[in-house]
Amino acid sequence: MESSITLQFLAEVPLRQFCWELLKGQDDMLKCKIHSEQNHNAWCEDCQQLIVNVTINHRVAKKFPPSLNYRKAFVKWILNKVESIENDVCEDLYYCYVQLLSETNAEFYYKSHHIPSSEEFIVMQESRNIISGGTTGLVSWKGGMLLAEWMLFNKELFSGTFLLELGSGCGFTGLVVLKGTDVSHYTFTDCHQTVLSLLKQNIDVNQISSERYTIAEHVWGKLDDCRDFMPDYVLAADVVFDPDLVSDLVISIACFMNQSKQKTVFMAITERNPQTYKCFLHELDAHKLKYRDLDTSKVPRLFYYDKNEHIHLLKVKAATS
Ligand SMILES: C[S@@+](CC[C@H](N)C(=O)[O-])C[C@H]1O[C@@H](n2cnc3c(N)ncnc32)[C@H](O)[C@@H]1O
Ligand SMILES: [Zn+2]
Repeated sequence: MESSITLQFLAEVPLRQFCWELLKGQDDMLKCKIHSEQNHNAWCEDCQQLIVNVTINHRVAKKFPPSLNYRKAFVKWILNKVESIENDVCEDLYYCYVQLLSETNAEFYYKSHHIPSSEEFIVMQESRNIISGGTTGLVSWKGGMLLAEWMLFNKELFSGTFLLELGSGCGFTGLVVLKGTDVSHYTFTDCHQTVLSLLKQNIDVNQISSERYTIAEHVWGKLDDCRDFMPDYVLAADVVFDPDLVSDLVISIACFMNQSKQKTVFMAITERNPQTYKCFLHELDAHKLKYRDLDTSKVPRLFYYDKNEHIHLLKVKAATS
């Protein structure tokens, strides 16, 4: 079993939210009695060494390293804690820090997310610039994470199905679903070339068999791009963010929904701007689509993301069905 420190480190949980509390009781990795029973983090040298082993030197971090800034901040944070109470610093921790100082920043880095049911990691290559190259698709958004959690929780519904996702971005939801459920086929769509090529790299890194997925370019509102697809269900996450795109987005939702066998779209939407969300619901009404907010309170939260903003999980259907 992986340590909770490893899981948080690989997912780049911000240090201010990092939960060392979990060490107590859950993490039996700490060697010494003081640091496994007490909950303060002025670690002894043995414990520092173990922390290095399960983070910077973990096999996944070696192959798919988190961003250089994150790794530096992580090591510096521990150094500061240890030095502030004048404990000895373990040699390996210094060595790591010096190594990190000589590394140069790359545009892309990795975040790895653990799926407990399959004991697998989903490895996501992402870009440092949240909105880079004119797209929002080079990082994973929390709507995509909630949608993935909800789908794992309801995996029987998707067993053997064909799914199509609008605005897949770099692919988090689809990769979790392909790894963690037995869907037959997943079609990823997006409009942006850099996003589509990052998506392909992420699919390859996670070793998804080519028979199980399709990548298609689709620009919302361009109905010619929709013709060939007949999924069972349609999915989308965090695609409601720009009021100027809402109208075209709903045209695509209506079109794919009509072609889908279950005439159903599942969407996760982080409500950042209530006006934009309202405008989206209004557009669904105008297309005679009905929608319902699904209860997500019982969905196990498997991934690390900020849960303060409300994320709607909407089930959208044609008003007549
Ligand atoms: C905020 S990101 C969400 C990505 C992913 N679903 C997630 O949850 O991480 C929105 C995605 O929609 C795509 N997108 C934006 N405008 C689009 C359009 N007009 N047609 C198709 N895709 C679009 C972007 O390229 C980006 O990948
Ligand atoms: Zn200790």
